[in-house]
Amino acid sequence: MIITPRVRGFICLTSHPKGCEQNVVNQINYVKSKGTVEGPKNVLVIGASTGFGLASRITSAFASNAATIGVYFEKPSAEGKPGSPGWYNTAAFEKQAHEAGLYAKSINGDAFSDEIKQKTLDLIKADLGQIDLVIYSLASPRRVHPKTGVVHNSVLKPIGQTFSNKTVDFHTGNVSEVSITPASEEDIENTVAVMGGEDWAMWMEALKAADLLAPGATTVAYSYIGPALTEAVYRKGTIGRAKDHLEATAFTITDSLKDLNGKAYVSVNKALVTQASSAIPVIPLYISLLYKVMKAKGIHEGTIEQIQRLFQERLYTGGEVAVDEKGRIRIDDWEMREDVQAEVATLWEQATTETLPQIGDLNGYKTDFFKLFGFEVAGVDYEQDVNEVVEVPGLV
Ligand code: NAD
Ligand code: NA
Repeated sequence: MIITPRVRGFICLTSHPKGCEQNVVNQINYVKSKGTVEGPKNVLVIGASTGFGLASRITSAFASNAATIGVYFEKPSAEGKPGSPGWYNTAAFEKQAHEAGLYAKSINGDAFSDEIKQKTLDLIKADLGQIDLVIYSLASPRRVHPKTGVVHNSVLKPIGQTFSNKTVDFHTGNVSEVSITPASEEDIENTVAVMGGEDWAMWMEALKAADLLAPGATTVAYSYIGPALTEAVYRKGTIGRAKDHLEATAFTITDSLKDLNGKAYVSVNKALVTQASSAIPVIPLYISLLYKVMKAKGIHEGTIEQIQRLFQERLYTGGEVAVDEKGRIRIDDWEMREDVQAEVATLWEQATTETLPQIGDLNGYKTDFFKLFGFEVAGVDYEQDVNEVVEVPGLV
């Protein structure tokens, strides 16, 4: 079929298999161009199909020759119905990995459930024995708690008082004022239940109890901090509470891995266009200004550049892992540079519907958004009839 984007707000209902494949190939080529990393051998990536998780899987495989198992929740493709981007991304990744002689298998299902955890443990036991790196990169609006059956929905709200600031509809370029009412105590608890560290700890406990963690095993989850501009809705809002919990969980996991000499880290990453971040109010305006400033300074990075740097310059340097005063790895260092933030803050004041096309990188934002779904990818012929039904070769 000929597949075109069908956008509804901040999501696109269709995705393009060839575009997704090309995105993955481009990421693989980037990683290879940076040389090998003396890194992990057997890697489990939870949230492996898009964004930072996909980049982590690609880097593990193509910088360190690692065997990878990916867990994700994606819509399979069917006759007349394109799959979700993560489905096509995984198909492309596994095809490339297998061609390169690398082990790569995946499990599609709810990572929060006991069933998918057990299925993953069984696969590791049967195929790999032990894992030396676990990447935890889930971004989900919802979690069914495996023990209580309660459905938790996360929200993106400020805490304490109504937050008003500028935002942009990145499709139209319209800059407007948005007001977000504060979260209830229940909203906060639900958001922490979905995006906090409880599930990460459950994965690590289950892996350890089944003796599937290699000595010295490392686990990494991803967090975000960001500037004062977005603080009320991000770091000091409901999602920030979840990130506080995630960051605290790194310490409890490290304690639980003492006898293995294992270690849990949180890496604070840069703000980027992903399916998760385009849903957060205010963030798209911030990102379009940030992209403009960082591109002008030659320090812009996407998910693959971020994760390649995480592996090569933080996790696998052969020495100590550099962390901040709270024990976190920082690869948001270029985003948070004083000169970058000062310029973004100035542009923020100037941003209106009229000025944004000049002062912001709205086009860069939009292109990145469409690219997430395999559209607007250079070298792909969108007029061509493509087979929308694609198999994921390593799907278990
Ligand atoms: P993403 O939406 O691209 O990826 C989410 C992944 O989780 C996908 O692989 C998806 O299939 C999987 N997933 C979601 N629900 C699942 C479920 N129930 N079971 C199994 N898999 C499920 O998101 P992302 O932006 O790469 O986010 C990953 C992490 O990085 C999050 O913790 C996020 O907060 C963090 N982070 C994001 C940014 C940013 O700007 N995007 C910045 C810093 C940190
Ligand atoms: Na991810």
